[in-house]
Amino acid sequence: MGRPVAIEVRNVSKRYSDDPGLAPALDNVSVDITDNEFFTLLGPSGCGKTTLLRTIAGFEQVSEGEIRLAGEPVNDLPPFKRRVNTVFQSYALFPHMSVAQNIAFGLEMQGLDRKLIAQRVDEMLALVQMQHLAKRTPAELSGGQQQRVALARALAPKPKVLLLDEPLSALDLKLRKEMQVELKRVQKEAGITFIFVTHDQEEALTLSDRIAVMSAGKILQIGTPNDIYERPQHQFVAQFIGDINFLPGHLKRGQQNEKLFVPNGMPVEIPCPAQGFDGAAVQLAFRPERSQLVDPTQPHHLRGVIEAVLYVGTATLYQCRLNNDIKVMLRENNEGLNRGRVVGDRVAVNLPPHACLLMEA
Ligand SMILES: Nc1ncnc2c1ncn2[C@@H]1O[C@H](COP(=O)(O)OP(=O)(O)O)[C@@H](O)[C@H]1O
Ligand SMILES: [Mg+2]
Repeated sequence: MGRPVAIEVRNVSKRYSDDPGLAPALDNVSVDITDNEFFTLLGPSGCGKTTLLRTIAGFEQVSEGEIRLAGEPVNDLPPFKRRVNTVFQSYALFPHMSVAQNIAFGLEMQGLDRKLIAQRVDEMLALVQMQHLAKRTPAELSGGQQQRVALARALAPKPKVLLLDEPLSALDLKLRKEMQVELKRVQKEAGITFIFVTHDQEEALTLSDRIAVMSAGKILQIGTPNDIYERPQHQFVAQFIGDINFLPGHLKRGQQNEKLFVPNGMPVEIPCPAQGFDGAAVQLAFRPERSQLVDPTQPHHLRGVIEAVLYVGTATLYQCRLNNDIKVMLRENNEGLNRGRVVGDRVAVNLPPHACLLMEA
C-alpha cells in the first residue's frame, strides 16, 4: 500500500427506521479512502450518498459497522471532535458577516490567537483567490464567489477530511466547469482528503482520483475514472456512466477455442475477449464511440438500418435498428470525413474485440 488510509468504512449499515420492510439507507458499505485522495460518491438521488457523508461526519450514528479516521474508531465521537468538515450544497454563509469574518468564524470558535487567525484568513483568501473581496458580504457575491468562501471557511480550521455534498449543483454549467477546475487545484494545494458527492457522472470522471458508484444503499464498484468507464462490472455502473449499448445473446467456442458471442436473433458470431464467462446467457455491452458503422462486407458484422441521425457538433450520433430489432447508438467523430449517412441507409456495425464488454444477463 502507498499512502496511509485516512478513512476506513467497515461493513456500515444505516437504518432510519425499525420497519424491516424498509430497505436500509446504507447496506453493508465498506471502503478505504487514502490521505490526500479526491474520492467521489456517485449515484442517483436516494442511493445513500448524503447518509454516508453524514455518518462519516458524525451527524448520524451507524446502525452496524465501524468508521475509523486516521486509524481511530470514531463511532462514539461527536461531530466536533472529528477532524472532518463539511461544505453543504446551500453554502450556509453568515449573511451579516464579511467574507473574511465568515472564514475566521471557525477559528474564533477554536479560540485561536488573533494574529494567527488573521494570518490563516489571508492564506485561505489567497487559496480561493478572493483577497480583493474580503470585505464584501455574501449578498454582494456571485454564486461561484459564495462557493469559494464556503470552501475557504471549511478549510480554515485545517480539517483532515473535507466532505462536499453536491457543492456545485446550484451553479450554472459554465461556472460549474470553472469551479471544478478550482476545486481540484485547491484540493491538491491544501493536501486534504476530499470526499465529494455528486449525481453528475461527467463531474465525477473529471475530478476524482477514485469513484465509488452507489445504488440502493450499496457500493457497486470502486475504481479510477478509467476503471469505471472502461471496465464496468455491473450493468448499472455501465449505464450510469456514459452511454452504452446492450445486446443479449450467448457465448460459444470457436474452432481455436476462442469465445464467440452470438446475439439473439442474428446469424452472426462476434469474437470477444474471454472474461470468465462460459456458455451462459450474457449481454454484450459496447460504447457508442468504440464501434464503427461500416459497409456490410464481413460475416461477423451486425447488420441493420439507420433510424435517426443526430448531429451534435463534434460528433454525429446514429440510432441503428439491428436486424433482430434491437436498437443501438453509434457515435462518429466529425473530422471532415463524414460519410453523409442518412435515415434509411442499410449499414453494418463493426465491433472490435477491445470494444466488447461481457456482463451477466
Ligand atoms: N433523516 C432521514 N429519515 C428517514 N429516511 C431518510 C433520512 N435521510 C435519508 N433518508 C432516506 O435514506 C435514503 C438515502 O437518502 P440519502 O442518503 O439522502 O440519498 P442521496 O444523498 O444519495 O440522495 C433515501 O431513501 C432517503 O429517503
Ligand atoms: Mg444527497
